[in-house]
Amino acid sequence: MSIYQASVTAPVNIATLKYWGKRDKSLNLPTNSSISVTLSQDDLRTLTTASASPSFKEDQLWLNGKLENLNTPRTQACLADLRQLRKQDEEKDDSLPKLSDYKLHIVSENNFPTAAGLASSAAGFAALIFAIAKLFNLQQTNSELSKIARKGSGSACRSLFGGFVAWEMGSQVDGSDSKAIEIAPLSHWPSMKAMILVVSDDKKDTSSTTGMQATVATSDLFQHRIENVVPKRFEEMKQAILDKDFAKFAELTMRDSNQFHATCLDTYPPIFYLNDTSKKIIKVVERINSDAGEVIAAYTFDAGPNAVIYYDEKDEEKVLGAMYKYFGSVDGWNHKKFQHGNNEDEIKGVSRVILTTIGEGPQSTEESLINESGLPKLATSTNN
Ligand code: DP6
Repeated sequence: MSIYQASVTAPVNIATLKYWGKRDKSLNLPTNSSISVTLSQDDLRTLTTASASPSFKEDQLWLNGKLENLNTPRTQACLADLRQLRKQDEEKDDSLPKLSDYKLHIVSENNFPTAAGLASSAAGFAALIFAIAKLFNLQQTNSELSKIARKGSGSACRSLFGGFVAWEMGSQVDGSDSKAIEIAPLSHWPSMKAMILVVSDDKKDTSSTTGMQATVATSDLFQHRIENVVPKRFEEMKQAILDKDFAKFAELTMRDSNQFHATCLDTYPPIFYLNDTSKKIIKVVERINSDAGEVIAAYTFDAGPNAVIYYDEKDEEKVLGAMYKYFGSVDGWNHKKFQHGNNEDEIKGVSRVILTTIGEGPQSTEESLINESGLPKLATSTNN
């Protein structure tokens, strides 16, 4: 039996202007536009092989070696959209194999440990959509595909592009204009770097989906944010990126992270994502900037305590040198050497650092995760 297959990789993105709030839950339509930076796939990526065959009995997905449930409304919505696009092509060209009728076997792996607690759903859904689009030989643009990824997980639509990305909220009720677009490619500002501080946490955070619903329903500050703050900030941040104005970009990024977490606190009952370690990291970044006499580092936090710090390569010695004093004893410095701090400088609660850069959007790859029988090859990931 013939097995058709395609493999791709997709990146993680970290928002600098946060998506928080849905105006339509089933279509994943947001209450505000957002902006993100795509991170390098050398350090963080999802690799997905999608295959289709008349011999497959059911749709199946293996994620990091484990069989996952594909029967969620979100995943089903994505698969239905992709199959419909394929069907349209098959109806136009009779010679095409009827892939839209075949069941799918999908195998997906992350190159970073799930244990690090990094949100992987954005890269995961982006890779899923891009892999099936490639398998089906769909000719839609990445912006068009981003609308399908959006239905899987809102933030996933931004992982369809590299560099600097906007998710335009749109105004249509059917979501036809709620899509990701590229603000600027990686080549526009390749010296932008990112450092992730993985913060240990013992509690299970409220999921983004649940958290944002509660915020929309109960927070007054949230209303102020979407009406009066985000529209202006969206334009300012886009401009700061186009101007490569790091200080401006950094201030807007930090203000937006702070306001997002303020709306979480203003949710009733309140939601806390930052912990004491996160707050110490904020202080460290403030100190780095005040010692430098200019803003050279920006923190941002998503729905958990991990920090992402953006900085420009030219300031690497200053930023990483200072960070090393506090977090030099954990893994992830990749042989980078800076001066050690005193023992009393050390801040506990960070389990590792990931030093990375900004990166490209989804890529095709020859590396397949599926064997001749259409089943997963032995796990090769570093997942633990
Ligand atoms: C704080 O995209 O995970 O990271 O659409 O419900 O799947 P769903 O939510 P998700 O939310 C991400 C929230 C955030 C901010 C952001 O990435 O913009």
